[in-house]
Amino acid sequence: MARDQLIAFNIRCFCLILLLLSSLYYISFVFWSHCSRPCNSPNHIMLPKQSLPIHLFYFSSAWNHLSFSSKPPQKLLKIALFVKKWPHRNLAGGLERHALTLHLDLAKRGHELHIFTTNSANSSFPRYPHVNMNFHLSKPTAAGYLDQAVVWKQFQSQNSTGRPFDVVHTESVGLLHTRAQHLTNLAVSWHGIAYETIHSDIIQELVRSPEEPRAYALTERSIKVVEEVKFFPRYAHHVATSDHAGDILKRIYMIPDERVHIILNGVNEEIFKPDFGSGKEFRRKIGIPESGVLVLGMAGRLVKDKGHPIMFEALKQIFMEERTFQRRVFILVAGDGPWGSRYKDLWPNVLVLGPLEQAQLARFYNALDIFVNPTLRAQGLDHTLLEAMLSGKPVMATRFASITGSVIVGSEVGYTFSPTVVSLRNALYRVWGDRSGTLEKKGQVARERGLTLFTASKMAAAYERLFLCISSDREIGARREDYCRYPLPSD
Ligand SMILES: *[C@@H]1O[C@H](CO)[C@@H](O)[C@H](O)[C@H]1NC(C)=O
Ligand SMILES: *[C@@H]1O[C@H](CO)[C@@H](O)[C@H](O)[C@H]1NC(C)=O
Repeated sequence: MARDQLIAFNIRCFCLILLLLSSLYYISFVFWSHCSRPCNSPNHIMLPKQSLPIHLFYFSSAWNHLSFSSKPPQKLLKIALFVKKWPHRNLAGGLERHALTLHLDLAKRGHELHIFTTNSANSSFPRYPHVNMNFHLSKPTAAGYLDQAVVWKQFQSQNSTGRPFDVVHTESVGLLHTRAQHLTNLAVSWHGIAYETIHSDIIQELVRSPEEPRAYALTERSIKVVEEVKFFPRYAHHVATSDHAGDILKRIYMIPDERVHIILNGVNEEIFKPDFGSGKEFRRKIGIPESGVLVLGMAGRLVKDKGHPIMFEALKQIFMEERTFQRRVFILVAGDGPWGSRYKDLWPNVLVLGPLEQAQLARFYNALDIFVNPTLRAQGLDHTLLEAMLSGKPVMATRFASITGSVIVGSEVGYTFSPTVVSLRNALYRVWGDRSGTLEKKGQVARERGLTLFTASKMAAAYERLFLCISSDREIGARREDYCRYPLPSD
């Protein structure tokens, strides 16, 4: 009798626990599905473990948070890419580097690529071992753009030989809206839009010295925003490279949510990775003492709009104020530009290294304690921050919405500052005060975040799925649903 009661009690207990667990699951699901961005920190997007598949067009966070299969795709696509310029060695901006990293990866995965780009008459064009990467070159217009009539003819001739294109990708306005407006299987990736650039214009005006003429960019820029708001919707699908840009495209540019997709930039994780030995060797070669020092690094074009005037002034002030900083802090500057020679004369511990090839750049990151990017450009998403994070280094950068919303989302990965000398100086002092243990820990968190979000393979997998989804969106039947659904049974 007592035994039966005990069993009954146990069963009741068990049922109660089951009920509690299932209600918890329900609550978490409701939380996930009704929670807009402010509830989740962008650092941690909650996905239900066993919920129903979602339609990817309605996924409002960065696709990098999802995991797509690394297996070869079930369907190989014929892809057209329009890009104003193709990168030549290390002379490449963010847009060109994005084009190269992404499409090289897609070609490796077996897709057939047709790249419509410019080539100036006297320069040689880089060669790639992939037979499925086809270049269609043309002469740039006087302003350096793609000649729309010429590339359109090239495109149509490729579209009518063999099979038609499954999907069309344009890096920014490579293909103008006048040609793009009737293509439903098209995606455009934006690397800086006028609304973001207004923030840069405001800062440029603030840091302008009295003897420089006033730039009239601000009023012109507002008109540019209005123009963009008018023509952007003519492109079928939009890819934002930061969470912030995605928000602007939806809110300010009023493009319907299901046509705006956030895919953060990625960099080659095989090249940019922690390598203690090579970092140590790099330090030794350029004559940095083995211990007791703090090594800061900057990389990129050494020009005004990358923030070098304020960095220069902040360092100058600290060098004058702090004797230990003078002796113990080394600043490595990689890159080319007018500020290089000024840094050279600033202080002996500021080492100007000139432009570095990719493999050397990887060693450079490994030699640092922290990477600093004082950029004054609010538009786009800087690749150097991602490379430093994948190398396991904490990062320090300007407090732009694209950076704080997608990259340095909290103090656990690094430091942010306003684009003023005072704020940057304070941030440098904070780093100086934190020393190596704290920096190392932040570097580990940065590496983890980088591996989850900023690898080239993550970016390419997300684009591949987007392209599959867009191309099959026109097909009728089961296929159509498959590629747009997450998760797929095979994921
Ligand atoms: C191509 O020619 C122009 C003018 O002749 C010259 O200014 C430019 O540096 C050349 N470019 C290369 C890559 O040789
Ligand atoms: C490409 O070819 C397909 C099939 O012939 C055709 O339906 C499509 O309209 C073509 N696209 C363009 C932009 O001409």
